[in-house]
Amino acid sequence: MEPLARAADRLGIFRDQILWYAETASTNDLAAAMAERGVPEGRVVVANAQSAGRGRHGRSWASPPGAGLYVSTVLRPPERALPLLTIAAGVAVAEGIQAAAGLTADVKWPNDVYAHGRKVAGILAEASSSHAAGAIQHVVVGAGINVMPAAYPAEIANRATSLEAELGRTVDRGLLLAEYLCALAARYLDLQEGRGDAVVRAWRARAASMLGRRVQWDAPGATRDGVALDIDETGALVVRTAAGPMRVTAGEVRWV
Ligand code: BTN
Repeated sequence: MEPLARAADRLGIFRDQILWYAETASTNDLAAAMAERGVPEGRVVVANAQSAGRGRHGRSWASPPGAGLYVSTVLRPPERALPLLTIAAGVAVAEGIQAAAGLTADVKWPNDVYAHGRKVAGILAEASSSHAAGAIQHVVVGAGINVMPAAYPAEIANRATSLEAELGRTVDRGLLLAEYLCALAARYLDLQEGRGDAVVRAWRARAASMLGRRVQWDAPGATRDGVALDIDETGALVVRTAAGPMRVTAGEVRWV
């Protein structure tokens, strides 16, 4: 039986909602267009390749055919689920990797996933509030997981890796998709039902390699730095600085 069929009972909102494409520009864009047209929560868009895969901060995401898992989900989160959504997605990617490939994956704030010190996956969550007075209509949660070694852009080549490069064996992308979606369904349910503390604990347990390290970030008019201590219940990074503890809520932090 196919991994997705075997996992059917654990797929929750994603069950029977998965669409596979040979290639698309960006699964996030396709999922967002579907969300605008009113598809139900839980729609999943997966592509074998992306011609214009997007990363955070306007970067591109290398998406050659078959080299990665490129997947986007449409969520319509209640208010209480919003603050920790990307944190939950990072945890779900790490849990999916562990369940499907047996590789321990770490998380790095806000939502990168690392294996053996190199980035193996990233998340791009994009919210739409295009209609009623700023209320969030939907969030597209996109995840890119490097499965096979590929020609990564030069600027990230020494910081990126893939599951197969780390494991020295092949990884079943169908199983990886199934386990990621099962983990995301469960973590999203945690948020919907007010168990954000469980999500934060799961994230913290995978963040040991990051907590205690120095970080730098750009604040309005200044570059700040300090030591990453934890995340709080809103998903903000808590940093010890010379001026006392600070919360970093957005933007890019550099790990130094
Ligand atoms: C990052 O910069 O770390 C986030 C990368 C997110 C890439 C994924 S691949 C599937 C989805 N579609 C996109 O265009 N981007 C996300």
